[in-house]
This record gives sequence, C-alpha cells and structure tokens, in this order.
Amino acid sequence: MRMYDVILKKRRGEELTTEEIDYFIQGFTKGEIPDYQASALLMAIFFKSMNKRETADLTMAMVNSGEQYNLDRINGIKVDKHSTGGVGDSISIVLTPMVAALGVPVAKMSGRGLGHTGGTIDKLEAFNGFSVELTEEEFIKNVNNIGIAIAGQTTDLAPADKKLYALRDVTATVDNMSLIASSIMSKKIASGADGIVLDVKVGEGAFMKTPEDARALAREMVDIGKHVGRETVAVISDMDQPLGFAIGNSLEIIEAIETLKGNGPKDLLELALTIGSNMLMIAKKAYNIEEGKKLLLETIENGKAIEKLKEFVKAQGGDPNMIDDLDLFPKAKYKLEVKSKRAGFISKIHAERVGIIAMELGAGRATKDSVIDLSVGIVLGKKRGEEVKEGEVLATVYANSKEKGERAVEKLLQEIVISDSYIETIPLIYEIIK
Ligand code: URA
Repeated sequence: MRMYDVILKKRRGEELTTEEIDYFIQGFTKGEIPDYQASALLMAIFFKSMNKRETADLTMAMVNSGEQYNLDRINGIKVDKHSTGGVGDSISIVLTPMVAALGVPVAKMSGRGLGHTGGTIDKLEAFNGFSVELTEEEFIKNVNNIGIAIAGQTTDLAPADKKLYALRDVTATVDNMSLIASSIMSKKIASGADGIVLDVKVGEGAFMKTPEDARALAREMVDIGKHVGRETVAVISDMDQPLGFAIGNSLEIIEAIETLKGNGPKDLLELALTIGSNMLMIAKKAYNIEEGKKLLLETIENGKAIEKLKEFVKAQGGDPNMIDDLDLFPKAKYKLEVKSKRAGFISKIHAERVGIIAMELGAGRATKDSVIDLSVGIVLGKKRGEEVKEGEVLATVYANSKEKGERAVEKLLQEIVISDSYIETIPLIYEIIK
C-alpha cells in the first residue's frame, strides 16, 4: 500500500477501506508516514468527509495505536465526561466533586487548552503543587480511596490522536466532524470508562457553529460509544457566549469554587447539573434528570462537594487551603475595567474572539511551546440579554503587562456588542442525544 494512493483516493471523494485507515494510523504513529502526507490526507478528509463506517474505523485505529486502560480494579460504574471545547468552560471542576460525593467514581483524563479554548489540566495547575501526572497505580488508588482522579493524557493512550491533534491544530483541520468524533472517542474508549457523557458545544465559540452540525457530531460520537459497548449520552449546549463569567485559569478555578460554595453563575451551575445528572443516571444513582439535579444540589448545600474538592486537590499534591482562602491564587498585577460607552442591551459576546483575547493576555498558548500565565484573564460583568447603563462595567481584564491589558480592554469593547432593544436569549441546553 502507498500513502500517495490513500491521499488520492480521499481527494477524489472515495471511501477508504478499514485496511487503508489502519495503514495510515499505524504508519503515522510509528513515524513512517511523514507529517506532510498526513496533513494532505487530513485536508482531503476535511473537504471530502468520511462516512460513519470510516469514522468508526478511524476511531478504533487510534484506540489501537496505544494502550487501553483497564479500570476493573476500580469499584462501581465509572463514568467519564468530555467537552468538545469552549471558552470559560470549568464544568469538569464543578461537576466531578459533586458526582464523586454521591459515590460515582470519577477516573478522568483531561486535556490542555487548544487554540482559543481552555483545558481542565491547565486550570487545575492553578492550585499550588497540583500534579496532573499520575502513575496508573496512583490514579487507581486515588479513585478507590477518595472517588476522584483527574490526569493528563499519557503518551501511551491513543498516541495517534496526540500526534494528529498537534498536526490538525497547525493545518486548519480541527473543526471537522469525523476528526473531532474520532479524536474524542478514541481517548474516551482507551481510557476505559464504562459510560461517557459528552458536552457538545455549539455556537460561535465552539468548533461546531450550527445546531445541525453539533447534532450530527453528537450522534456520530454516541453511535461510536454504543458500538463498543459504552453507554454514551451527549448534551448539546450553547457556546455562543462564554460559559459563566470568568475566562482564564485561576479565575475559572475561583469561579468553580464559588459555584461549589453555592455562589456560582446560573449557566455554569445549570450545565453542570444537567451533565452530572446524566452521569448519575448511567451510574444507576438517579432515575431521571430531576432526581439527579436534586441530589447534586444537595452536595452543594451540605458542603460535601466542596469537601470532595479539597480531598481531590490534596490527593494530587495541591494546596487545599486555597479553597478557603481564594487570595492564595496567583494574582495579576493590573486590573482594568471595560466600561460601556453607551446604554442598551448586550446582544452578543463574541465567544471565540473573547477566548483569543484571553489567550493573548497569556491565559492560553499562542504556540505549542508557550507557557501559560495562570493569573491573567477576563471576568465578564454582564451576559447576553442583560441591560447595561452608560459607564457600567462590561468586563474586568486581569493582566501582567499594562500594554497587553489596555489592548484587551480596547478589543473587548468591540466584542461585547450592545444594541438598543432586548435580544431573545439563546437556550443554554439545546438537546440531549442518547
Ligand atoms: N477535543 C478533542 O479532544 N479533540 C478534538 O478534536 C476536539 C476537541
């Protein structure tokens, strides 16, 4: 077989066989197929698409490119959660202590930020001393002892995805349905959970810009999960504006802590409760969403969720005192306010561009090797649909360079759009696909 012929076949819009897909993934993982040929195939897939069978084959080829974790040593039904990527999305940090407090083991592999989207692993590193590198032994021990462990993707888990993702990130081939579905599902299948709840984002700040595309991606992933015997559910949620108010690593962690203390933003809590109840249902701890939400809210009210967060942070080497004393989180030198130039209603907060502004402040990586500044970011003062007076604070910028901060203020004035009349709000949750 020749890689040239595989590329040509897809370029012509023809269907690739299982053997051709395996040949590509194995050769690329071993370094026998160079990046330029892999890039050409990715671009051909981007323009000519893959059908369901090809996507499922690509997923399984990536699962088989490395090790598969065996979580049998963890008691109970293990349910994982994964988001397709958003701005201000600290759901995993809010959700996992609540679910774990209800006795559902959380054994989670998370990612770092990509492009304008943030990553759970980067955010968790805002806790002094926190380690996301756990051996398999430590990972299993922590889940069995305290019910929760979150680690970074190790090099032996779906290595093909790790390599391909890095290539997609620099060849403008991230936002393709088959490539996203196989990337996410290969990691979730290889990491061994019994059930998977997917948060498929839709809107301007998401990779899927329309509800139709998000629905198709959700269906594709749910079908792949079911096909390999993992109960899979997808929640389609809004990413047309950032989730919650905070964008940036420590800022989002602080917001997640406030949410677990009962003082969080409505949208962040609502989405965490919806995803969490689906996790509880898969784990047979709740009969329906309403019961699940009630149980999860109780863990906030009775303080069990925040206690679980402290246990989790401590078990991974982090400082749990930061949860009681939020002043211990890294602080930016400059705090600048973005003030509204006019009165009206917030009609749009451009999520992707706000994510890029936060990245430029240092909250995300501009290149693969950039070092993240944990203290910087943006805290919105208002969300879509809210009324605003002239001179009111639309957002606060946290920066370590005055110039960067001032530039962010100017840009945010463009990206938070104010109109004269009230704008219908977009639903937070579109649909749940099973
Ligand atoms: N998250 C992933 O893990 N992979 C993608 O392709 C997109 C989002």
